Amino acid sequence: MESDIEWHNARALLEWQLEMGVNETILDVPIDRYALDPLPVIAVKKETVPPVVVSKVDPVAIASKMAESANSLTELRTMLEAFDHCELKLGARNLVFSDGNSDAPIMIVGEAPGREEDQQGKPFVGRAGQMLDRMFAAISLDRRAQEAEKSIYITNVLPWRPSQNRDPRPDEIAMMWPFLKKHISLVNPSVVIAMGNISCQALLGEKGITKLRGSLQQRHNFDILPMFHPAYLLRNPSAKKYAWADLLTLKARIEQI
Ligand code: URA
Repeated sequence: MESDIEWHNARALLEWQLEMGVNETILDVPIDRYALDPLPVIAVKKETVPPVVVSKVDPVAIASKMAESANSLTELRTMLEAFDHCELKLGARNLVFSDGNSDAPIMIVGEAPGREEDQQGKPFVGRAGQMLDRMFAAISLDRRAQEAEKSIYITNVLPWRPSQNRDPRPDEIAMMWPFLKKHISLVNPSVVIAMGNISCQALLGEKGITKLRGSLQQRHNFDILPMFHPAYLLRNPSAKKYAWADLLTLKARIEQI
């Protein structure tokens, strides 16, 4: 269509309209679009998209594979450091692997690191740890002893601190069990002490420390002795007499072996 507006003026007019928010142009004559034939429906060929396969990771299977491949305590520690499926690791400062003498006849399995343990990367170094040291000193055992027979070896069910010191969840215990099982078999102690309910849950598959404590049990080819946790003894000093009885049971068993 011929127009008497000069090109540059026409362009300036269009730009001004765009600035004003015009986003559609219409013709001089209105169109009744309702009167028009409907637009032909164009069949769009649907692409067949293959279903998305979400690969489900089984952390227990991965833990088992990793733990089984460890041939030494150093390798087991390296495996644990590389294991990224336990969310506790994200909130922990340090991996708490063990303390004491790995040739000792007694291996203590506590629950999980607390604040001090998380800070120092060593098990049982807080108040409960000092209590534990006093308990074992009463039967002449010391985690720092050079001689294996006079020493103890200490670890936990979980190597990372649960935030706010909450109880470990059953799925966390199950996930870390392959590592603990391998840890025990590499140390190969004469007696494993299940310190408290969480440890009994991991090692014996049952809770109820008041009923379980003091009786030696055979599981997974180990001798297991459940005992009250030192933190429990700090809160309930009247239960110390039972801990003493259990320490004497332990001493007798070690002398027998
Ligand atoms: N309580 C535990 O069970 N383990 C530790 O390492 C410290 C406290």
